[in-house]
Amino acid sequence: MIKSVGFIGWRGMVGSVLINRMIIKNDFSKIIPTFFSTSQVGNDGPIINNVIFRNLKNAYDINLLSEMDIIITCQGSMYTELTYSKLRQNGWSGYWIDASSSLRMNKDALIVLDPVNSSLINNSLNKGIKTFVGGNCTVSLMLMALGGLFEKKLIEWISVSTYQAASGAGANYIMELLKQMGFLYNSVSKYLSNQSFSILDIDKKITESINKKNFPLKNFSVPLAASVIPWIDAKMENGQTREEWKGQKETNKILGLDKESHQIIIDGICVRISSIRCHSQVFTIKLKRNISLENIEEIISHHNKWVKVIPNDIEATLLKLTPSSVTGTLNIPIGRLRKLNIGSKYLSAFTVGDQLLWGAAEPLRRMLNFLIDL
Ligand code: HSE
Repeated sequence: MIKSVGFIGWRGMVGSVLINRMIIKNDFSKIIPTFFSTSQVGNDGPIINNVIFRNLKNAYDINLLSEMDIIITCQGSMYTELTYSKLRQNGWSGYWIDASSSLRMNKDALIVLDPVNSSLINNSLNKGIKTFVGGNCTVSLMLMALGGLFEKKLIEWISVSTYQAASGAGANYIMELLKQMGFLYNSVSKYLSNQSFSILDIDKKITESINKKNFPLKNFSVPLAASVIPWIDAKMENGQTREEWKGQKETNKILGLDKESHQIIIDGICVRISSIRCHSQVFTIKLKRNISLENIEEIISHHNKWVKVIPNDIEATLLKLTPSSVTGTLNIPIGRLRKLNIGSKYLSAFTVGDQLLWGAAEPLRRMLNFLIDL
């Protein structure tokens, strides 16, 4: 029977990307959608295939939500915390698909990334699991890139450095980054084509501008344009940030490696940089055994149809292994693959992925399709 699907948080950044992908893939023809709102109840909703969805429903109305077979939320953790338990306590036994992190580590919830854990998804559905959560973006993007090495159990540990886009922090942060860029540009634009100004004069003006009281800092609290921020999310007791902590925890949960003793060690530093919506990551990987680079490339590229091994040369790297070449696509390029001087079991890699697509919306859309097909 055709399923009713409630959408919450469909207007935000992840939600809009999800809706667009669903339109492209014709998913709306397979469901009966209802659009909810936390703030604009009764207003018009989205226009999908030329149809306006009018009269937005109240996203806090537990009885209305309970009428849905499936709920998919991109509204954020706070909404999930306010609603999910009440809904379950009310006896609702529908499927909950969530972009936020709040339920990820619950034992009754599965983190979904089907090119990597489709068998776990099917097992969970058979066991009656009803809660499915998208993973942290860097984790999902890493698994899409290195899926082959994980599948063949070749990884002993990974040290990672991330280069995370402003989109991961939210739409307001992207706006602020662009304002910061504009502020800096405006402060020197008239000198850029004036030969009498040396680069050090221009640099001095940039430094003055970045320290001005009216430099836009409301969200990031420090400059990101012309800088980087080596801290993402809250501090954990062990000195990691929460973003860094998720790397090992979520990866092992997605892979179904529950026992502490079987877990793959993953750690590193997460850094915010000034790209807009593509995260990049550098990996130093310790392999369990010494296998040839050729073999490694073959294993990586055969894992899924989105990962692409980029030859370790300047032309291919500049053309295909940058945020600007990946943004808005589902491509997961991985390159700079080589054995490190440290030893023959040590591999380096650089990968890029769109934080809003494979990093957020696409695993949710694909999970919805598992449920539509049940
Ligand atoms: N926590 C991520 C970031 C967002 O800040 O980039 C995606 O899960």
